[in-house]
Amino acid sequence: MARNTPRLPDSHPSGAKPPTLDPRHTPKHVAIVMDGNGRWAKARGLQRTEGHTRGEGALFDVIQGAIEIGVRYLSVFAFSTENWRRSPEEVRWLLGFNRRVIHDRRDSLNEMGVKVLWAGRAPKLWQSVIKELKAAEELSKDNDTLTFQFCMNYGGRAEIVDAVQRIAQDVEQGKLHPSRISEKTFRKYLYQPEIPDVDLFIRSSGELRLSNFQLWESAYAEFVFSNKLWPDFDRRDLWAAIENYAARERRYGSV
Ligand code: IPE
Ligand code: IPE
Ligand code: MG
Repeated sequence: MARNTPRLPDSHPSGAKPPTLDPRHTPKHVAIVMDGNGRWAKARGLQRTEGHTRGEGALFDVIQGAIEIGVRYLSVFAFSTENWRRSPEEVRWLLGFNRRVIHDRRDSLNEMGVKVLWAGRAPKLWQSVIKELKAAEELSKDNDTLTFQFCMNYGGRAEIVDAVQRIAQDVEQGKLHPSRISEKTFRKYLYQPEIPDVDLFIRSSGELRLSNFQLWESAYAEFVFSNKLWPDFDRRDLWAAIENYAARERRYGSV
């Protein structure tokens, strides 16, 4: 059965339209560290969790803005392998929150032609969260407007170590010869090998670090750091970062 034509994203409430860019200057893959929810809440005398709640709206605005401007792959950091160090209350709250977000948003993402993929480690992550992630993946698997990589219990080093373990297993079973392990082979063992390298890496909240996000994939990414806290971020900030990116010269070591 032919799929329905995807529904167009809603416009931003301000009526703002994406800048016109040469498609060659539009990043294919944008990765975002959605940071600053706790500070946003603290500045208003609210609980940290209120900041996360407000971040959901920012994320869905940014997803729609990514579709409008023609980004093909969007990866977002929702929960890191290091976030287990937070209080048990906040960890529990965040897992339940993300489970609810995936469940509630999957139909509307699917209608817009968004393909959802989960990247992260299964051990320790709640089965009920994994179940929602898998359901969203299954529902949206034939979509191709935008591939949305939801990084949940994700760490860049964990991803590399997990790849090494699977490579070692294949070598042990005689499926792979050590001399055949190239960068290209290695890549096939990452969580979502179909997603290309990161072109543009964005972090909100003014922190100037990677915090273990998309380490392998960002080897030649361009970086844009925004001082806005994530709940204040919207698609116009994404577009501004992309315009900044479009003006840069990427050289990959050549001249
Ligand atoms: C980002 O906001 C969300 C997660 C890391 C889950 P934070 O919760 O890190 O907010 P800040 O950095 O404390 O302001
Ligand atoms: C990175 O933000 C993880 C996510 C956004 C999910 P953190 O707030 O956890 O990172 P650090 O602790 O400032 O490095
Ligand atoms: Mg933070």
